[in-house]
Amino acid sequence: MASFYVTTPIYYVNDRPHIGHLYTTVVADTLARYRRFSGDRVRFLTGTDEHGQNIEKVARREGVSPREVADRHAPVFSRLWESIGVTNDDFIRTTEPRHRAGVEELIRRIASSGDLYLAGHEGWYCASCEAYYPEKDLSDGTCPVHGSKPEWQREENVFFRLSRYGERLLELYEKGIDGRPFVYPESRLNEVKSFVEQGLKDLSVSRTAIQWGIPFPGYPGHVVYVWLDALTNYISALGFGQADSALYQDYWEPAEGRRAVHLVGKDILRFHAVYWPAFLMSASLPLPSQVVSHGWWLKDQKKMSKSTGNVVRPADLIETFGVDALRWHLLAEMAFGQDANFSDEAFVNRYNADLANGIGNTVSRAVRMAYDAFSGKTPDERCEDNEVRRAAEEAVAAWTEGFESYRFQDAVDAIRRLLTAIDGYIASREPWKRIKVEGLTPALARVHHNALEGLRIVAVLASPIVPGASGAVLARLGIDRPVSSLSRQDLAWGGLPLGVPLAKPAALFPRADLKAYLSAPSAKEKTVENETKNESAAPATPAPAAAPTPAPAAAPAEPRITIDDFARMDLRVGEVLAAEKVEKSKKLMKMSIKVGEEVRTVVGGIATAYKPEDLVGRKLVIVANLAPAKLMGIESNGMVLAASLPGTGEPSLLAVDPAVPSGTRVK
Ligand code: ME8
Ligand code: MG
Repeated sequence: MASFYVTTPIYYVNDRPHIGHLYTTVVADTLARYRRFSGDRVRFLTGTDEHGQNIEKVARREGVSPREVADRHAPVFSRLWESIGVTNDDFIRTTEPRHRAGVEELIRRIASSGDLYLAGHEGWYCASCEAYYPEKDLSDGTCPVHGSKPEWQREENVFFRLSRYGERLLELYEKGIDGRPFVYPESRLNEVKSFVEQGLKDLSVSRTAIQWGIPFPGYPGHVVYVWLDALTNYISALGFGQADSALYQDYWEPAEGRRAVHLVGKDILRFHAVYWPAFLMSASLPLPSQVVSHGWWLKDQKKMSKSTGNVVRPADLIETFGVDALRWHLLAEMAFGQDANFSDEAFVNRYNADLANGIGNTVSRAVRMAYDAFSGKTPDERCEDNEVRRAAEEAVAAWTEGFESYRFQDAVDAIRRLLTAIDGYIASREPWKRIKVEGLTPALARVHHNALEGLRIVAVLASPIVPGASGAVLARLGIDRPVSSLSRQDLAWGGLPLGVPLAKPAALFPRADLKAYLSAPSAKEKTVENETKNESAAPATPAPAAAPTPAPAAAPAEPRITIDDFARMDLRVGEVLAAEKVEKSKKLMKMSIKVGEEVRTVVGGIATAYKPEDLVGRKLVIVANLAPAKLMGIESNGMVLAASLPGTGEPSLLAVDPAVPSGTRVK
């Protein structure tokens, strides 16, 4: 039996997940589901990268230990994946002892090849990349990935003889593994090739300037460079260097029909396609089969990243539209390998076109007609030769081809085309007219059967991409099966059971109102507590779309915070100098608020409860150190505190004694 090991990058714990992280994880999940569906044994790994300078810095700034930072943030990732139904088999944290054992073993092997030595070293270091850059690779003196100014760092480091591996790497890129290119897509392979062709310098693989890392075996005072540490996760999670290495043998040791695929963004391609195979070659260990690299999600045409701050967080979208809508959009919108821009407008439009109108309406209409015609049951006729069947067979072929070559857009298109064919079939056969003229003939039963059977195949094809919606469609067709039990056999024509009860017709994806969504206050405006709750307790199925619904009251309890956590919030008394409603928005009010000497623009979702003239001269409390956020094109610097009234959610501003001067700290 073929086996498939798929990994995501392990994400840094100095940030909360945004659409970029979600994309890689959703693609990996979709692939894992597709492979299980195709009969492979699958292992799917994700996790968090917890050592290194960035985490140490955050910890120092907050006055806590790096481990506390890691312990606080790692669950934000693992809980998000769990709440949206990601099917990872394991979640590795680089602070775990099992991981350290793997790193130590890898280093022992590299050392015994004679590939490590100590040397002095200085250069430009980008902390966000955790990498040195030669002067020529900087763009205008800044990091080519983050656009930030690197620091000049000088250290004595342990070096890895990367320069020894240039030729073997080029051979790897030339030959690929088991008939597949080592790096996919080809443009990225070429990029990596030309990097290696320019000649490889040895790589510093220890740090002495920081303490937060795995102690470097044999070099007291040095910790392991965070990338050597992090990359090892792919094998330490399988038991490499530990007593039980059964998974390692099963998923990493080469064998017929075995594949190990690392899915990464193009930002970290070099680490995966150059350094990682070189480390493994040095240690005489097997290589992964393939490094598959996707492009960047952009916002306003710039890479979405924590250092730029232009991120789209998934909470609002998932809360309003459900996780399937987001999965669908991410896979449909990005041509795999290229960059794509994220826009709320494109998201809502696609949701309406593909899900509300496409899958949702077609299923509702076909089920309702069959329900009425056959007293709540599926028709009791089969039909072997018809145009829906031919369209389905074409869709299955195109869909498979799309998945096999990481062209998810093609897989999505195949589903869309099949839906269009079913719609056209129903329209041309006019079953609603014919039943009045001919009555319930076998020919008419076959028309209904073909439409429903086509939709069953749509649901099966959709299952790796939008598993929740797939299950919901199957249920409406009277098929009570978990999507995880579906397999290739279910793609064969004729699987719809005859004469079984259909579910009562009910809407699948309610239409969304683009305007209402764009003017609704975003999660950024809600309380900080609410936002983390939303991310961890997001519903897997869509809520009626239009305005976001409040977080469910039964969200899992967050751990209590300490006084230090609270002290991170800078709450201040402010005085409203001017206020005006934001045009085109029902809820948003733009205010100029005096906070001590400073006057800030703050946009708040209070316009349904307050008029501008109620606000001017009023004192209120604002969160003064909230990161700026753009709301309807206006940059808001801070957030006003208001109670959210039960039932209506209407805001009621916190009252402040008018005698308290503006700028006063609230604690
Ligand atoms: O690099 N568009 O972690 P990280 C698309 N810890 N994908 C994006 C993205 C964007 N704008 N932003 C992030 C690290 N990603 C290391 C990895 S692996 C051994 C160590 C996704 O938290 C994408 O997969 O910066 C990218 O490669 C990854 O998140 C980087 O996550
Ligand atoms: Mg990054």
